[in-house]
Amino acid sequence: MRDPQITRTITELRQALAERSGALIGLVPTMGALHAGHAALLARACSECKIVVASIFVNPLQFGPSEDYAGYPRDPQADIAYAGEAGADIIFLPTPETLTGRGLQTSVVVAEVGEPLCGLQRPGHFTGVATIIVKLFNIVRPDKAYFGEKDWQQLQVVRRLTADLDFAVEIVGVGVVREADGLALSSRNRYLSVSEYQTALRLPQALKAAANLIESGETDARVVALAFRHAIATGPDLKLEYFSICLPDTLEPVEAIQGKTLLAAAVRVGKTRLIDNVLVST
Ligand code: PAJ
Repeated sequence: MRDPQITRTITELRQALAERSGALIGLVPTMGALHAGHAALLARACSECKIVVASIFVNPLQFGPSEDYAGYPRDPQADIAYAGEAGADIIFLPTPETLTGRGLQTSVVVAEVGEPLCGLQRPGHFTGVATIIVKLFNIVRPDKAYFGEKDWQQLQVVRRLTADLDFAVEIVGVGVVREADGLALSSRNRYLSVSEYQTALRLPQALKAAANLIESGETDARVVALAFRHAIATGPDLKLEYFSICLPDTLEPVEAIQGKTLLAAAVRVGKTRLIDNVLVST
């Protein structure tokens, strides 16, 4: 383990980076409540970069008015220890005042790839994500930045803004980290009661069932969607927000499945919103 340096202001962070000038810098943006999914991003960053910066910031810009911003799990001391164990050299832990407090008149809107799926369910969400990521890129100036495939659409939004705005940063996607029972790790899993957790398992199971069907030769997206709906078995305990069979890069829906295809879904289990996806190739 390396002993991480904690920085709370942009000036402190820039100073810490200036002292290490010339080193390859990797950035891992997070909202804290760190778990093994975040650790996988940090591990990858450590294996590829000299200096790894983990940012921990619950970004108010990406939460809707009726969403869980206030209740989002915050435990900075535990996160600092966890990020240090996971290999972060510098932790950027800004206050909301530092990044968004003065009120922004500028936002970054990623059209098309930010519009379907979670973009429809959470208006303004990806604009909030894109705006904070652009700020972090400008503050940190990383050579590489690491994002999880668990948030597949977010990864595509970040790839697109990086290309469109000519950021000199390589975006690295890291595979989904799951519990042994298949549930994708998420900071929001800690909202789930024991019985809700069991219900939530239907999400990865239904995605797997749909993926298996495609891998055994089914090419009709309607048939796959029916199988998914059968397996997820919506009811009072689990509501389906969306299920999409789409092209992985553009998220355009497909009718005839061929080549690389993304299966993505969002559900609500009680008050908890969960997303997951699998990539299949035929
Ligand atoms: P957060 O949910 O904390 O996730 C931070 C990063 O960890 C994201 O890139 C996310 O995709 C990745 N991640 C989370 N769970 C994962 C899992 N089970 N397997 C692999 N990667 C996983 O995503 C955000 O924060 C925010 O939107 C952020 C990018 C920090 C912008 O505010």
